Amino acid sequence: MERTLSIVKPDGVKKNVIGEVIKRFEANGLRPVAMKMMHLSKKDAEGFYAVHSERPFFNDLTDFMSSGPCLVMALEGPDAIKKNRELMGATNPAEADAGTIRADFADSIDNNVVHGSDAPETAAIEISYFFNAMEVCDRV
Ligand code: CMP
Repeated sequence: MERTLSIVKPDGVKKNVIGEVIKRFEANGLRPVAMKMMHLSKKDAEGFYAVHSERPFFNDLTDFMSSGPCLVMALEGPDAIKKNRELMGATNPAEADAGTIRADFADSIDNNVVHGSDAPETAAIEISYFFNAMEVCDRV
């Protein structure tokens, strides 16, 4: 059993695909164990994506992530990090496999509907960035 951090980004919320995204997670063995709707400040987004602070897209990325509400979730399941990344598809929707979330709903690499952790260490850091221990619920 593993946990990962998932975000339905502001473009996904605007497109009303929150339910569709969660449906795909639940149908594929990923159960939400924490969830909240948040409108990130520019500083919140900069802190979350600090690992990308030297990248040329950092300013656009953090502007976009603070442009509207997003849904932040912790998901739990067998091999959750890899499974979530499979369901999301490639970062650039033009390269995403057919049937993935990004292939189906994303417009561009900047507006790519979902974020998912890329490794166990980052998943732990990202979950604790948004949720304290009491907000993450064991599923029975
Ligand atoms: P995400 O998985 O949230 O992680 C960082 C985000 O930066 C990524 O999705 C993309 O939306 C965005 N981004 C923009 N340009 C690039 C790029 N060249 N490489 C990786 N990520 C990019």
